[in-house]
Amino acid sequence: MIGMYKDTFRVLSKRILKHIPKQEKKQYAEEITTQLLLSEWWVRAEVIAITVAREIELDTMPIIEKAWKQDKTVVIPKCYPDEDNTMRFYQFTNKNELENVFLDLYEPKEDPKKLVSSQDIDLIIVPGLLFDYQGYRIGYGGGYYDRFLTSYNQDKISIAMELQLVKHVPHEVFDLPVDAVITEKNIYKNPDI
Ligand SMILES: Nc1ncnc2c1ncn2[C@@H]1O[C@H](COP(=O)(O)OP(=O)(O)OP(=O)(O)O)[C@@H](O)[C@H]1O
Ligand SMILES: [Mg+2]
Repeated sequence: MIGMYKDTFRVLSKRILKHIPKQEKKQYAEEITTQLLLSEWWVRAEVIAITVAREIELDTMPIIEKAWKQDKTVVIPKCYPDEDNTMRFYQFTNKNELENVFLDLYEPKEDPKKLVSSQDIDLIIVPGLLFDYQGYRIGYGGGYYDRFLTSYNQDKISIAMELQLVKHVPHEVFDLPVDAVITEKNIYKNPDI
């Protein structure tokens, strides 16, 4: 039942995100990136897990490049739909290591030498479409992050535009909130952690 509500929110959120003018989104992305780079989570993290943004999302490439410049290690996920929707993270050091897997989805090429285990990640930046002030999130619907986060104990945050925040996002028992959501205006810390 709740799953159905989430699907409705997904469709709506995607539509809203799609219709934000490019220039406006770029402006938001810059402001949010600035906030993120000043945050305690960013400063203390050496290994950062992040995704390469899809067309409708906030561009994460400037964040990745900043991390490289600061000598942080960047890891990005590869999804395994045939392995019960698990996700593995690979070290990402160069833009030509990307593979266009589906439409506008970019993932790392599978290279066992670059595989990084979840214990070695200091900060994960969790993607999502819609968030609430407790850190609950509606993602793309694969349950990839919810599964991954069950065995991940370090910092987890999300970045979003203020317009992606609502008072309460419907959530189910397996949905795990992030520690904080960083927007262009504020940092919303999960009050329970
Ligand atoms: N810890 C888990 N173990 C097994 N299945 C899970 C777990 N977490 C979520 N799922 C499954 O994944 C499906 C999708 O979950 P949900 O609708 O919350 O997606 P989402 O949070 O938007 O996706 P993502 O986590 O990839 O961002 C759920 O229907 C659920 O059955
Ligand atoms: Mg979920």
